[in-house]
Amino acid sequence: MKEINNNLHNACEEKFEVGAIGNFVKNLFKTKNPDEMIENASKGGLEKTLGAFDLIILGVGAIIGSGIFTVVGIAAAGSPESAGAGPALVVSMVLASLACVFSAMCYSEFASMIPAAGSAYLYTYATMGEFLAWIVGWVLMLEYLVGYIAVVNAWTGYLIQFLKGFPFLPSFITNPPIWLINDYGSALNTLSKQGIDASNVIPSIAGIPLCFNLPAIIITLFMAAILIKGIKESTNMAGIMVIIKLAVIALFVFTGAFYVKPENWVPFAPNGFEGIFMGAFIIFFAYIGFDAIATAAEETKNPQKNLPIGIIGSLAVCTIVYVLVGLVLTGMVPIAQIDTHAPIAHAMRVAGQDWVAGLISLGALTGLTSVLLVLMLAGTRILFAMSRDNYLPSLLKSVHKKYKTPHIITIMTALICILGTLFLNISTAAELCNFGTFTSFIIVCIAVLILRKTDPNRKRPFKVPFSPIFPLLGVFCCGGLMIYSMQFLTTSRVLFPLWLALGILIYLSYGYKKQRKSENNEK
Ligand code: ALA
Repeated sequence: MKEINNNLHNACEEKFEVGAIGNFVKNLFKTKNPDEMIENASKGGLEKTLGAFDLIILGVGAIIGSGIFTVVGIAAAGSPESAGAGPALVVSMVLASLACVFSAMCYSEFASMIPAAGSAYLYTYATMGEFLAWIVGWVLMLEYLVGYIAVVNAWTGYLIQFLKGFPFLPSFITNPPIWLINDYGSALNTLSKQGIDASNVIPSIAGIPLCFNLPAIIITLFMAAILIKGIKESTNMAGIMVIIKLAVIALFVFTGAFYVKPENWVPFAPNGFEGIFMGAFIIFFAYIGFDAIATAAEETKNPQKNLPIGIIGSLAVCTIVYVLVGLVLTGMVPIAQIDTHAPIAHAMRVAGQDWVAGLISLGALTGLTSVLLVLMLAGTRILFAMSRDNYLPSLLKSVHKKYKTPHIITIMTALICILGTLFLNISTAAELCNFGTFTSFIIVCIAVLILRKTDPNRKRPFKVPFSPIFPLLGVFCCGGLMIYSMQFLTTSRVLFPLWLALGILIYLSYGYKKQRKSENNEK
């Protein structure tokens, strides 16, 4: 009898365990109905005003930034952890743009099917459930916030280049101390290259070195203030920014073309395939931002036609612009002399065209500022969407009474970005941003294939052609570049899994439980 009792007890326990584990797994993969997302979005009542051309302007506005004004120098000349592509940079650019095109089509399919502002996070929620949606939201923080840190670093570089154009200014402005415009690691690196003992230059308080990027901190607080006040990004405003950016790039290409020395293009690929692939991985950063177009789906006229044209069209425009810049830059300056802080303006100074360098710095500053705004805006909106879905503390979803913007999230985001500028240099930040973006692109490509199977009858105004080949090519190109680069990037390949692990930990210890409580209507 006792034995039977024991067996019964064990069986009950087992059943309970299987039930608990089963529930847990079921919750991890719990999806959100796309119709619910569309309904939520339609409550926003946004007017459909954007055509294909507006979308291309919006895309180019979000895409062209520090990638082509700064990171291009690292892709061409290399960094301590990655081989440079050399003049073969143009091949790297085309490769990176290919990786984007396949993912861009998958974004287009989702954006025209679920026209709601939440992008990859929502697409994943609709197909693979809450756990992976959380992971995508988490890696999107790398794309937007760590990407922000990379861009703001570049911003400081161009600010200094711009100020140098005014020799009458006091020298502490045109030539500020290294510890006021750098993170500690970058300052150490620069000083050691010059054979200078850092302890003689960088002040310290109680043994802690005082080294921070002051211009980056100021512009970040300014961006947060603008976003809190509420900014209505009109396409006209974006249009002006795009015209300024394209004008300075055209100025560089047409003036620089006269200083191209074809002998600088030889050898074409000094580091062979390694340089080309690493160059493609690094310059991928320059293409990030086209996914922002997908978030304008709710405001697009005839999205089935215009979204793909907007997304693919802006990628095409940027690829052409980038290849021209790559050709001129590597033709003007020998690879070893390319400046990795402000390569385009520096190339013009080398050519003795200081006034062009000044204009380029001003144009770059304008362009970078618009990218900063878009990245911070996107980061705050993804966090907002996640807190609205009950994955983050309720306090974060509070909206400012007067300005009607998520002010707490914006302030928190600005503080995270400022903290990041203390520790991350531009290459590590851009690499991490790339890892995050590649991961979300891969998940979106897979999500397209899943939804085709699980919900084949859903109306798809735009369908990725040659499915499953194109989505799989997206997975292959993004995954290939990511895995290839990991063998060299010793810092970011450690930081990226750490970031993912932290995300999983926060989800399991907080987000998961909070979600269950909210399902049971508990506080
Ligand atoms: N593509 C954006 C830039 O280059 C992130 O700044």
